[in-house]
Amino acid sequence: MKIARTIAEVRDFRMKESQSDRSLGLIPTMGALHAGHLSLVKAARSENERVAVSIFVNPTQFGPNEDLDKYPRTFDSDCALLLESGVDLVFAPETGVMYPFGFSTTIDIGAVGSRLDGASRPGHFQGVATVVAKLFNIFTPTRAYFGQKDAAQIAVIRKLIKDMEFPIELIACPTIREEDGLALSSRNCFLNAQHRREAIVLSRSLSVVERLVGEGELDSAVLLAAARAVLSKEPAFRLDYLVLVNPDTLEDLPERIYSSDEATLPSCPKGSLLAVAGWLGDTRLIDNVVLRTEASASAPLLQYDPVIYA
Ligand code: PAJ
Repeated sequence: MKIARTIAEVRDFRMKESQSDRSLGLIPTMGALHAGHLSLVKAARSENERVAVSIFVNPTQFGPNEDLDKYPRTFDSDCALLLESGVDLVFAPETGVMYPFGFSTTIDIGAVGSRLDGASRPGHFQGVATVVAKLFNIFTPTRAYFGQKDAAQIAVIRKLIKDMEFPIELIACPTIREEDGLALSSRNCFLNAQHRREAIVLSRSLSVVERLVGEGELDSAVLLAAARAVLSKEPAFRLDYLVLVNPDTLEDLPERIYSSDEATLPSCPKGSLLAVAGWLGDTRLIDNVVLRTEASASAPLLQYDPVIYA
């Protein structure tokens, strides 16, 4: 496994070892890797001749009062995990490599970038879109792998690929969870024992709605009220947003969620997105589920196949 620190080394890898006509799967990360990240690596490994992972805690996607400085950095153990997973190249640049003196271009994704986390974290998705566009240009991957856990991020990357004509297939992989339902996150290590116990309220609120949808309930107000009732039982949890939206545009579904026949429309290929975000102590947590009326009754939380956007 090669560890590259410069853009020139990645380009060299792409030209020589990976050869530009060979398939390359890219998994962009900020490190502090866990089984969620590794599931993306596994998916990439199964579909590409070469697999590359970037590890870069991207400062432009953190707000001034956010946790950039204390974001967990575990480079050595990350590399050990990636070596075990059969990764060919790790790109771990210093900030100055990605943002050299004088860097000033920003990609503004438009309305999608200012909804959900984009509303609570102004500028966040400009930072994400900018760094991901740079990574796409540096690697020219065949496929790029992202986690459904960050559903708004998927919508942003999807728009980025489409609008900027990147010839890259976006693969959205299912959320990996702890046994009690908590979505794995690099930030979970900040939760103390009590907050860790309380954190299951997010996935629990989603499961309740998923069950109601399985029973035939489509009314947005009813579904949101059911989730809110679960969340309110955990007074320590400070809600940021709880929304039912179109997963592509992140626009509200004020009346009712899509039924299964509508879910096949191109504008909404994978149902309705129920997303929740909030804080336990200082730790921000997010989670979501895609509600699909035909699949929800039998399928447990988020057990659906990876979604491929050609
Ligand atoms: P990071 O939070 O490190 O996540 C890297 C990738 O892992 C993202 O696509 C994220 O959705 C995915 N992921 C995280 N937790 C997951 C889980 N429990 N199950 C499945 N996938 C999971 O997201 C970022 O970094 C950054 O914004 C980045 C895209 C790298 C740009 O800086």
